[in-house]
Amino acid sequence: MSALKPLKKAVLPVAGLGTRFLPATKALAKEMLPVVDRPLIQYAVDEARAAGIEQFCLITGRGKTSIVEHFDVAYELEKTLEERGKLDILAELRAMAMEPGSMVTVRQQVPMGLGHAIWCARAFIGDDPFAILLPDDLMLCEESCTAQLATAYRETGGNVVAIEEVPRDRVNRYGVLDVAEDKGRLVSVKGLVEKPAPEVAPSNLTIIGRYVLMPEVIGHLARMERGAGNEVQLTDGMARLIGTQPFHGLRYEGRRFDCGDKAGFLEAQIAFALKRPDMAPAVREFLKRYS
Ligand code: UTP
Repeated sequence: MSALKPLKKAVLPVAGLGTRFLPATKALAKEMLPVVDRPLIQYAVDEARAAGIEQFCLITGRGKTSIVEHFDVAYELEKTLEERGKLDILAELRAMAMEPGSMVTVRQQVPMGLGHAIWCARAFIGDDPFAILLPDDLMLCEESCTAQLATAYRETGGNVVAIEEVPRDRVNRYGVLDVAEDKGRLVSVKGLVEKPAPEVAPSNLTIIGRYVLMPEVIGHLARMERGAGNEVQLTDGMARLIGTQPFHGLRYEGRRFDCGDKAGFLEAQIAFALKRPDMAPAVREFLKRYS
């Protein structure tokens, strides 16, 4: 058997309309909404880097240029910070600077669904395995969630998606696993269904916004078959890989916050602030006023 190709590429789709966050997202990219003091997209890029990812592809759309600006070097700002002696924040900005040439953007002209967004990255993906991170799923994990997937990929080869259990009445919001064998941390998969009605869902194990996929998924997405919500669904493309390549779900360790949802976004603010030594005491104090 030939050696596994290393996982070095990540695709970050940010072309969605963010309708659940209107009017905030009318002129502002959802992925630029900050949790404490950094935008959602920054958490996703940091998580991917912690997993050894070296090449990034942002799938952008209308109104998303501020995301690209965010990853550029702000020369005048850095110079001013230096002159004013604000060296801590300057060091932080420099630490997040991208390696020149390591980030590309591709435009998804029409938001036809997540599967279509990933297909738009086909030239970037080429023949390599790749991670996908949906930045509105914000992960609070000791070890980067993408790093956990990368480890599982090295164990099993093939496709690995991060999964969690949800109450049955909520499975219709997610891609759901049809389980071949549940081995605990890893689950081998015999089918996938996008947004099934609870009464016909094959399980309550759902896919969250973290994936490691093989490049062959692109050929299936290229059929442009419309699925749930009349969108080109990534889940449908992934389902076609099953039987031809290994496909596993990984029960990741950590917590997910759905920051595409208002309540999830607010909870993330509290959870992330409580993890910060510079903020936790003040946040604990003010929270007393609301209990
Ligand atoms: P969502 O289902 O959260 O859709 O997309 P959305 O448009 O961002 O937000 P709502 O539901 O209208 O509030 C999941 C991920 O897929 C990307 C989104 O940017 C997000 O990261 N996506 C979705 C695309 O890039 N293109 C699409 O056509 C659809």
